[in-house]
Amino acid sequence: MPKKVILDVDTGIDDAVAILLAVHSPELEVLGIGTVHGNTTADVAAANTLRVLKAAGRLDIPVATGATRPLNQPLATSPLVHGEDGLGNLNLPHPQAAPSGEHAVDQIIRLAEAHPGEITLIATAPLTNLALALALEPRLSERIAEVVIMGGSAFYGGNLSAWAEANIGHDPEAAAAVFQAGWPVTMIGLDVTMQAWFTREMHAALGASPKPGAALAYEALRHYLDFYERFYGQGGCAQHDALAVAYAIDPSLVTTALLPVRIETRGEATRGMTVVDRRAFLADRAPFLFPDRNDWHTRVALAVDSERFLNLLMERLT
Ligand code: RIB
Ligand code: CA
Repeated sequence: MPKKVILDVDTGIDDAVAILLAVHSPELEVLGIGTVHGNTTADVAAANTLRVLKAAGRLDIPVATGATRPLNQPLATSPLVHGEDGLGNLNLPHPQAAPSGEHAVDQIIRLAEAHPGEITLIATAPLTNLALALALEPRLSERIAEVVIMGGSAFYGGNLSAWAEANIGHDPEAAAAVFQAGWPVTMIGLDVTMQAWFTREMHAALGASPKPGAALAYEALRHYLDFYERFYGQGGCAQHDALAVAYAIDPSLVTTALLPVRIETRGEATRGMTVVDRRAFLADRAPFLFPDRNDWHTRVALAVDSERFLNLLMERLT
């Protein structure tokens, strides 16, 4: 029986790869995709998501446009990393398909009510839609089976800033609401996504594949690989969002620990930081150490089997 999932994305180049992994994996049944501001605007993310679904032959999956800006800071997108169009400046024709017209927040609430306790919510973007859904439907945290987030960083440091990972830093207040909601959260952060390196050889193999969606991913990844080369000074790139989807497919790919995680929302230099408390490294000590706290239910990814992850990704995409 495939795992029912909802994706919340800011498509974005690595979101596009993650969506392809999800729709090419029989272990997952994608009930719907929601978009949000982040790498690009929520509207462009929706158009890009439709382009990816069209290339993969999966326009049967509804795409719902979501929040257009963060809860408590100005909108800031990442054209340097993902291109002006969010897909590596491919400037693809419009996908001749439209978003469903439902808001991404309403889509999350509706599907959670229709499938109580069954859905894994995979967020590979800022968490504004999830925070709004929690505010609109307080019972949501009991109706969702698990939240898997590509975001944050336990001990690696930041990418959007010295200490903030982009999905958290693009809406810290939303992230705080999501991490404190009491539902099971798994944090797939930079500690693991920056360990599994997608190489130019893998990129070439992707470009040689006739599989639906492979050509779009190959073309979009050109821009991303060039950015990584200039910014990180080494060939290849991370596949941040695909690792969150891969975890939902096979949790054994990642080693996790149950740790307290707080989101910094007031720090001048640290706003958007996921403050992971390693003092409670063993979950069984947390209730004793922190009897008055309930924020230690976060499953934090600390190590990844990079080879198995990348083999899975390449096998599904090519
Ligand atoms: O920090 C990486 C995350 O930020 C990924 O989800 C990428 O798509 C960007 O949204
Ligand atoms: Ca993303």
